Amino acid sequence: MTVDAIEPCTFALFGAYGDLALRKLFPALYQLDRAGLLHADTRVLALGREGDESSQQLLMIEGHLQRYVPAEEIDEVALQRFLSRLGHLTMDFLSAEAYPLLLERVGKAERLIAYFATPAKVYGAICAGLAEVGLAERTRVVLEKPIGHDLESSRAVNEAVALHFPEGRIYRIDHYLGKETVQNLIALRFANSLFETQWNQNHISHVEITVAEQVGIEGRWGYFDQAGQLRDMIQNHLLQLLCLIAMDPPSDLSADSIRDEKVKVLKALAPITSEQLAHQVVRGQYVAGSIKGKAVPGYLEEENSNAQSDTETFVALRAEVRNWRWSGVPFYLRTGKRMPQKLSQIVIHFKEPPHYIFSPEQRPMISNRLIIRLQPDEGISLQVMTKEQGLDKGMQLRSGPLQLSFSDTYRSARIPDAYERLLLEVMKGNQNLFVRKDEIEYAWQWCDQLIDGWQRQGSAPKPYAAGTWGPTASIALITRDGKDWYGDL
Ligand code: BG6
Repeated sequence: MTVDAIEPCTFALFGAYGDLALRKLFPALYQLDRAGLLHADTRVLALGREGDESSQQLLMIEGHLQRYVPAEEIDEVALQRFLSRLGHLTMDFLSAEAYPLLLERVGKAERLIAYFATPAKVYGAICAGLAEVGLAERTRVVLEKPIGHDLESSRAVNEAVALHFPEGRIYRIDHYLGKETVQNLIALRFANSLFETQWNQNHISHVEITVAEQVGIEGRWGYFDQAGQLRDMIQNHLLQLLCLIAMDPPSDLSADSIRDEKVKVLKALAPITSEQLAHQVVRGQYVAGSIKGKAVPGYLEEENSNAQSDTETFVALRAEVRNWRWSGVPFYLRTGKRMPQKLSQIVIHFKEPPHYIFSPEQRPMISNRLIIRLQPDEGISLQVMTKEQGLDKGMQLRSGPLQLSFSDTYRSARIPDAYERLLLEVMKGNQNLFVRKDEIEYAWQWCDQLIDGWQRQGSAPKPYAAGTWGPTASIALITRDGKDWYGDL
């Protein structure tokens, strides 16, 4: 792709001095510039309530770039070019008077991209402000998650935005959709007939999706405690991964074809009733423990914490997709903070061969697995059974990988951060990797029933020591079905 294919724009970043913008968005924009993917006329406007002196604010952005972009990826020429694109405007997003100033700064630029890295409750006010000064027609809006905290509040946010913007110019971010391996899922499933013929309940026994983080709450206690792991991770990232695994082949690669198929999966998710909750869903909260030999505090002892909180930092659950393709195939989802390692992976377990001819003691190891590793060490590995080599080995079987490690195979190429891809797609006007309103709402509807069930039962999260794979109940959740979490050490 050449830069000519991408139109120039003014990229207005609302909430430019928050953690997300400084840690992820400015570095991603810089990387796009370094890769030659920003049009020469593209400008970046940092918008925030703080700071009178533009120069101070821009210095702050530069400081964060130096901090978050690896030193070997700082190219002085690209950095100076990027800094010369930057401008700052102090504005109160809730004040209508601020928007004429914004209009002045945007000038005649044909395209405005307005990225909302702010709490969702101000999205409506920003959209109204943009519309009031006549900017809406040339603007694409990008909404960060979380969009609401339940179905009702997410509807309110979506409706407030929809008053001024059509769905075709609303880009809802789920940054997992921009990850390299997640992208590859589409290629893997629909460019290889090998997999697609096996991709159903006749051949797959169960699916695991694990998104484990080693970090704790890292100064975000106030936000996180209102949300919890179900809202923060399952409602969006893990359900999106589940959709990409479970969806039927779309008829083409257009945004709506893909999103239509994902919505069908969300609609087919079996409800989990209050009676099933205790068996099918495990909530956990970490207590003090150790990670890599270093003592770490519990959730209730983190900075700015409230010792009474019963917010969950871990969720494991057993979901079912009720349709022809997936009937009887459990999907085990698991995500938590302060786990032993950062690991995001999907494991597809295939069924045993229908007729078994090898020695009985080898039987438990017989099964093929497809392991899709999102991070770290992005790659795909297919575990296949072969024979041990050697005259003395007889028909002794071994399970070994047919492997595609992206970092080894494409050694010279760096794997771009998810936000780089997503920002580029917004600039190109491609909505494939963004979440449609109905996806968000079906996902909330499914999660709301779990939250309601917990509230009705007044159930407290189960403790787990930091540095472990979650409460023992999460192991029971899967062993009860005669299975194990793959690869837990
Ligand atoms: C965010 C969550 O959406 O994803 C964070 O709000 C979480 O709590 C983060 O840490 C994980 O993203 P990644 O890309 O590091 O797996």
